[in-house]
Amino acid sequence: MATRVNVSPQARIEYLHTRPISLDGMAADVRRGLAQTPKSLPSKLFYDDVGSGLFAQIMRMPEYYPAQAEQEILTRHAGQIVGLMPEEPFILLDLGSGDGTKTRLLIDELHRQGRAFRYVPIDISAAAIEKQVEHLAQALPDLPVHGIVGDFFTGVGGVRRTFRPMPIFALFLGSNIGNFDQTQALVFLRTLYNLLAKGDHLLCGFDLQKNPAVIRLAYDDPAGLTARFNYNLLLRLNRELGANFDLTKFVHYATYEPLAGVARSFLLATEAQVVHLAYCNATFGLEAWEPIHTENSYKYTLPGLAHLAGQTGFAVVEHLFDARRYFTDAIWRRT
Ligand code: AVI
Repeated sequence: MATRVNVSPQARIEYLHTRPISLDGMAADVRRGLAQTPKSLPSKLFYDDVGSGLFAQIMRMPEYYPAQAEQEILTRHAGQIVGLMPEEPFILLDLGSGDGTKTRLLIDELHRQGRAFRYVPIDISAAAIEKQVEHLAQALPDLPVHGIVGDFFTGVGGVRRTFRPMPIFALFLGSNIGNFDQTQALVFLRTLYNLLAKGDHLLCGFDLQKNPAVIRLAYDDPAGLTARFNYNLLLRLNRELGANFDLTKFVHYATYEPLAGVARSFLLATEAQVVHLAYCNATFGLEAWEPIHTENSYKYTLPGLAHLAGQTGFAVVEHLFDARRYFTDAIWRRT
């Protein structure tokens, strides 16, 4: 059962009560990842409060070009994007909205043009949705806002049922899709396709393949912020699962593989060691220089994107670029 809270006459929050990551679930994922070869840890564990704060700082650092590039696209093309949105009242659905800073560029343009729409941000983080909805209720009191705390697909299914037959313009910003491998990206897009109706739109951010040196720097910045983001995963396991990772015995390592078009992040054990997880009383041995794989960030090509749209059933409407063509916001229509 979902709970609804009214923030103002026009703004409300719906809590879907989708299962948060339980300690048992986390321990099971971590045990599985550390028992296999090569070892890995799930990247969804990056985003506790500390990790989300570090990611917000990463997005502001000069080396992390995806954030600036998408900001540039949305700033330069806000009018064109809004021109592709439905004329009649519609739902602006924001998947994984976070604090909604980038979406605000589109909301302000819609508002300026006096367009009728309801803003529906969905995020697994209650704190992010609460902050965003409260802020919008203050700044734009007449804008209908329906924030949803929960997972995307439960949220989109509910939105479809509640607001049928209003058209949907969905956003999946920030190259979040890059953290899925090819199969996961396909499943994600196909599931979304099935939840949307004919004529609905998706605007999705994709990071593009480019000089590997530029990509590597974005994932291994000289100030060491990305390294701290990566280390926080181990600190989180120490805090929440009673693990005893010694951070002085790990280094952050980021690589870019141009053949596969993927930036990968690792934590490398600098010496042989044994790690214990008190929560589930499990022990793991690491060899010297053994990697723990923590993240994939896939980079796309334009032919690859056209192929992906075709494979998932979407029709390409427009691909918008920043001046350096580092990133694209792809606008696709549900056929
Ligand atoms: C959230 N995601 C799109 C980021 C990325 O670029 O893969 C996460 C990140 N990891 C290191 N820096 C940023």
